[in-house]
Amino acid sequence: MTIEYRQFTEAERRRFWTSLDRGFGGHYEPSEAQYRLDREGFTPEMSMAAFDGEEVVGTSGAIGFESAVPGGAIIKNAGVTAVTVATTHRRRGILTNMMERLLRQEREKGQPVASLWASESAIYGRFGYGMSIQHENFKIDTRKAVIKNSPEIPGKTRYVSPDEARKVFPEAWEAAVNSHSGIPRKDELSWDRWALGLGGGGDWGKPWLVVYEEDGRALGYAQYLVKELHVFGEQTHGLLNADMVVHSNPASHAALWNHLLNVDLYDTLSTWRSPVDDSLPWMLEDQRQLERKPYDGVWYRMLDVAEALSARTYMAEGSLVFEVEDSYIPEWGGRFELTGGPDGSTCVPTTKAADITLPTASLSTIYLGGAKLAELERAGRVEEHTDGSVALADSMFAAERAPWCPLMF
Ligand SMILES: CC(C)(COP(=O)(O)OP(=O)(O)OC[C@H]1O[C@@H](n2cnc3c(N)ncnc32)[C@H](O)[C@@H]1OP(=O)(O)O)[C@@H](O)C(=O)NCCC(=O)NCCS
Repeated sequence: MTIEYRQFTEAERRRFWTSLDRGFGGHYEPSEAQYRLDREGFTPEMSMAAFDGEEVVGTSGAIGFESAVPGGAIIKNAGVTAVTVATTHRRRGILTNMMERLLRQEREKGQPVASLWASESAIYGRFGYGMSIQHENFKIDTRKAVIKNSPEIPGKTRYVSPDEARKVFPEAWEAAVNSHSGIPRKDELSWDRWALGLGGGGDWGKPWLVVYEEDGRALGYAQYLVKELHVFGEQTHGLLNADMVVHSNPASHAALWNHLLNVDLYDTLSTWRSPVDDSLPWMLEDQRQLERKPYDGVWYRMLDVAEALSARTYMAEGSLVFEVEDSYIPEWGGRFELTGGPDGSTCVPTTKAADITLPTASLSTIYLGGAKLAELERAGRVEEHTDGSVALADSMFAAERAPWCPLMF
């Protein structure tokens, strides 16, 4: 079996998507308008596919977007997506070969990091990805969860129609991008695709849309769905699924959660993709009414260590030499000297002795400040050569807020 790896051509576009849908086990039958919005923005240049003769047997690609890193700089980020291998061709190394080509392609485009959401968390560590943005899923009995503490809320929440949401939500999203590391900036096409998805359907019906504004500026929004459960004609119970709670400051966070916890008749509220430093637990009178489940959100992969590390600032001043082991693409590893602090940083290849040896996945894990190197060291994922260097790394890589990514891509 000879497998060819390359981008798909325009003529192969439909076959690429059919193969992808089948890889995830689905039949996707969109309208022409939906197909255009959903799929034509994904250009051949973003793709890397595997072909067995004419048949597409592997799909992958990367959406180039921008996201913030600690210190507030915006970096380029290869958002890896659409990864499948046909069931007829699995476990023969096709993903292993395809991923390497995709990562090389994205590095050539000048992306310092790649990131992705994994369908299964055991897949990507072998390719150098580290768990970088962890989330929490919340389940709340809203009859018992009472907000006891709240910051001052100077603005107001109001319901908006899908048309108005299309106009005001982008401003709130951009505010969130600038206040948290890791949130992808959305372009016009992404918002059009999002708006198209608001047509309703399915047994959850259409979502409710709420914006939080201060002085006419949108600083947050929530998008939620409700479902009633009836027994003998009586409503016994209602579910509220808070699909998106996007906030950019304490007031927008508190206002939106006040709203969600006060939707009467719907007593079981669930949400996913909350940042791990969400302040909701500290606002409640009784924290036990909030069930929290950790979840692996976004995996990061360094494509260019020097460029990625020098893009962010560091909480404490310091200088460290890392020996970065990249077993998947060895020439991207090596020894790097990082010198940084709150005002900026540099990172360059060096021949100096290493303070710390670690795999590229571990460096990717701590990149946005979402995990401590000391925890990884205790797990046997890092080796310290100079006493105190892991502690120094932790004080440097610390971030004011945990990274967060409320968008699945
Ligand atoms: C995940 C998927 C793309 C893997 O493709 P593949 O071509 O079979 O992968 P490879 O043959 O290159 O596997 C490489 C290694 O990863 C392992 N691996 C692959 N998929 C795995 C999984 N789902 N869980 C755990 N290990 C996995 C293989 O066992 C192999 O290990 P080895 O090197 O020790 O032998 C394919 O199974 C698939 O399409 N799954 C359904 C869609 C999906 O979940 N896509 C991922 C979206 S984020």
